[in-house]
This record gives sequence, C-alpha cells and structure tokens, in this order.
Amino acid sequence: LAGLLLWALIGYLLGSVPFGLVIARLLGLGDLRKIGSGNIGATNVLRTGNRPAALATLILDSFKGAIAVLIARWLAAEDAAQLAGLMAFLGHCFPIWLGFKGGKGVATFLGLLLGLAFPLGLAACATWAAGAALTRISSASALLAAALAPAWAWGLGYPSMVMLCLVLAAIVWGRHHANIRRILKGEEPRIGKKS
Ligand code: G3P
Repeated sequence: LAGLLLWALIGYLLGSVPFGLVIARLLGLGDLRKIGSGNIGATNVLRTGNRPAALATLILDSFKGAIAVLIARWLAAEDAAQLAGLMAFLGHCFPIWLGFKGGKGVATFLGLLLGLAFPLGLAACATWAAGAALTRISSASALLAAALAPAWAWGLGYPSMVMLCLVLAAIVWGRHHANIRRILKGEEPRIGKKS
C-alpha cells in the first residue's frame, strides 16, 4: 500500500506542473487564466496566436501523463501505472500550486492512455482528431474522445482499463461544463480563433 501511495503522489506531482501557464508566462503571452476560456491548456494557449507555444503545451501536458504511467510500470506494476496515470490527470485538473484550480485534463488523458496502452491512446487521439475535423471545436472533440474511450478500451482488448476510462471520461465531462453550455448555445469558438 505504501508503494501505491508513493506512485499516486509521484503521478500527482508530475501532473500538477501547469506547462501551459509556465510556457505562456515565460514567453510573455500573459496569464492564460485571463485569456479566452481562462483555461491553462493548449487550446487556450493557441488563442494567444502562438502556435509553437500551444504545441509545446500539448506535448508536455501529454508527456507528463505518459511518463507517470511508464515509470510506475517500469519500477512497480500495472496497478501502480494506472494509479499514477489517474493521479497525473487529477494533478493537472487540481494542482496544489494553483489552489486546486487547474485544467480540463484532455492532453494528459491522451498521454496517459498512450503510455498505458498505445493502441488505445492512438484510438483516443484519432477520435479527438476526427471530432476536430468535423466540428473545429476543441472541447467537443475532447468530449467525444473521452466518451468513446471506455468503448475503445473494451473493443481493443483492454478490459482492465474500462473502469479507468469511465472515471476519466466522467471527470473530463465534468471539467467541461462551461464548454458544454457554450456548445449548446452555439457559442463555442472554433480551434485557433484568437481571443
Ligand atoms: O483541452 C481543453 C479543451 O477541451 C477546451 O479548452 O480553452 O476551449 O476551454 P478551452
């Protein structure tokens, strides 16, 4: 149990690094929490007009989820890897450094799935991309990718990850309540539209 708690803590601390906020600040793009949706993720970094910064945020926020999973699996076991991934995701959404007011977890969710089961992660990324191609709306794509992840886990032969995907999907949807309201009103901005 002490081992699992340690992996939970390591996962949480990795996930709690708010790369978008840090990158935007370092590049002088301003405080993301006062720009666009106010979110600290790559989609909102893109609203500053700085594409490389948005890409770096996407990669690093995904990477921290994948790394948490991979080191836990390497040094411990599968249950530790799933727990570390979940905690990295929660670290991103509820970072202690920002008074537990963090992001929506989408990049970290994709990264941890890539780390846990690469085909499942690819399927989730492809679902996001298909959603983005159809709607040009980042949040709608994320909601679709999250909703289908449990089905992908089941269908691709990872039954042990269905429960984790259900929990992640529920939290992703919960974190997007403001986006869902905007989508329903037809007011959600398209990807890349500057704020
Ligand atoms: O990854 C978060 C995305 O789904 C929505 O971001 O800034 O449009 O709320 P944003």
